[in-house]
Amino acid sequence: MTSEIPRKGLLMLLVALGLTKGGVVKASRDQLVNCTCENPHCKKPTCQGAWCTVVLVREQGRHPQVYRGCGNMNPELCLGRPTEFVNHHCCYRSFCNHNVSLVLDDVDPHLPLILGPVLALLILVALGALGLWRVRRRQEKQRGLHSDLGESSLILKASEQGDSMLGDLLDSDCTTGSGSGLPFLVQRTVARQVALVECVGKGRYGEVWRGSWHGESVAVKIFSSRDEQSWFRETEIYNTVLLRHDNILGFIASDMTSRNSSTQLWLITHFHEHGSLYDFLQRQPLEPQLALRLAVSAACGLAHLHVEIFGTQGKPAIAHRDLKSRNVLVKSDLQCCIADLGLAVMHSQGSDYLDIGNNPRVGTKRYMAPEVLDEQIRTDCFESYKWTDVWAFGLVLWEIARRTIINGIVEDYRPPFYDMVPNDPSFEDMKKVVCTDQQTPTIPNRLAADPVLSGLAQMMRECWYPNPSARLTALRIKKTLQKLSHHPEKPKVTH
Ligand code: ADE
Repeated sequence: MTSEIPRKGLLMLLVALGLTKGGVVKASRDQLVNCTCENPHCKKPTCQGAWCTVVLVREQGRHPQVYRGCGNMNPELCLGRPTEFVNHHCCYRSFCNHNVSLVLDDVDPHLPLILGPVLALLILVALGALGLWRVRRRQEKQRGLHSDLGESSLILKASEQGDSMLGDLLDSDCTTGSGSGLPFLVQRTVARQVALVECVGKGRYGEVWRGSWHGESVAVKIFSSRDEQSWFRETEIYNTVLLRHDNILGFIASDMTSRNSSTQLWLITHFHEHGSLYDFLQRQPLEPQLALRLAVSAACGLAHLHVEIFGTQGKPAIAHRDLKSRNVLVKSDLQCCIADLGLAVMHSQGSDYLDIGNNPRVGTKRYMAPEVLDEQIRTDCFESYKWTDVWAFGLVLWEIARRTIINGIVEDYRPPFYDMVPNDPSFEDMKKVVCTDQQTPTIPNRLAADPVLSGLAQMMRECWYPNPSARLTALRIKKTLQKLSHHPEKPKVTH
């Protein structure tokens, strides 16, 4: 287990001139500095931000790694929490993150070579000390967390026996009442033990960072202050609904902190190395089998959201309202999971209860169904929201289909309606194309050549009926895709 890495063998960060916390001149919010960018998400060797970052991180089973980049959100984020796994430094001058020396604390470069018996003796003593240290460290950790957590410490104690502390913690039965989350006190404790490592996404919503919690990667979505309602809504849904499903992004914790006069809103979830389906499709063309795997798994996620499950382990029906390839993540097993419940609405038939929330945000214009664009949607009817999800899901299927290789042919990634509206289309741009001209994306001809993918093409058409109630249901989409993916493979022609 990684938590057993000796404290004495920890990393020491020798920070170059200009990086020391005392001697920095903070840039104002609008003063941008150039920084060295060295992490897997850098598009160029430099980036621009409000400050520069250097993060030294040791992840489970890996060697320590240095990440350099830019920080942009609230300057309070610079207060990285040094732990045995992460050291986090920020600085405020151009390229101040460039020249940083890193050494391991446990290696003494002047250590003389000592002859056999002395060395053997030292090793024995070290092993003994390490054993003792492990026991003490485990006790210390339990004590630290226990004093903070009271009753919830029991879960943490149980979790320390496994490989993934987070996995065990979340698998334990002790969650927030009926929700998917841990008890609130545990959520806060976990959140405050997370160190931010690298920024993996940025948008109007805020930023997504890869964080590290006791050496395990987690995703931290930091909401911009203007999108606080999305944080409230997503937090509410995860904490009130039992939403653990392979194809729904796994929730870990929500946290709100106030420092000085600013509020920071964090949502901590599982981290998925491949990023969003949008990112994934840009990077690689798909063999039909993979395309179907992505489509089926995303459909399973949507069907699970949409279905109401009765009973004590039940859930209300949920409509997403902002489905798009950027809100679908690709997991390491190449199944998708659905993310971003900030706009979701819930419905319970039993109690005939429709909870629309009060988020002023609207869905992404490019993915809006015709009835949303012409404002004919019946906002008091829950089914209407599911039908708009199905429209958007059809567009996601189209994005997947374009990137699927059939008879050696594949197209570049394009967003839906790329050839009909400008970048960042306005509501009116979309309305003209989708409502007035009744256009839908062009389905690639080559799909017709494949018995499975022609089924996918037909499914898209049935997601895009102008009459919302005529569209397929998520459950039908899931079942049809499952059937298509079990279609016997065409025998390979050999010469
Ligand atoms: N981008 C947005 N959310 C993410 C997550 N949970 N993991 C990886 N990349 C993401």
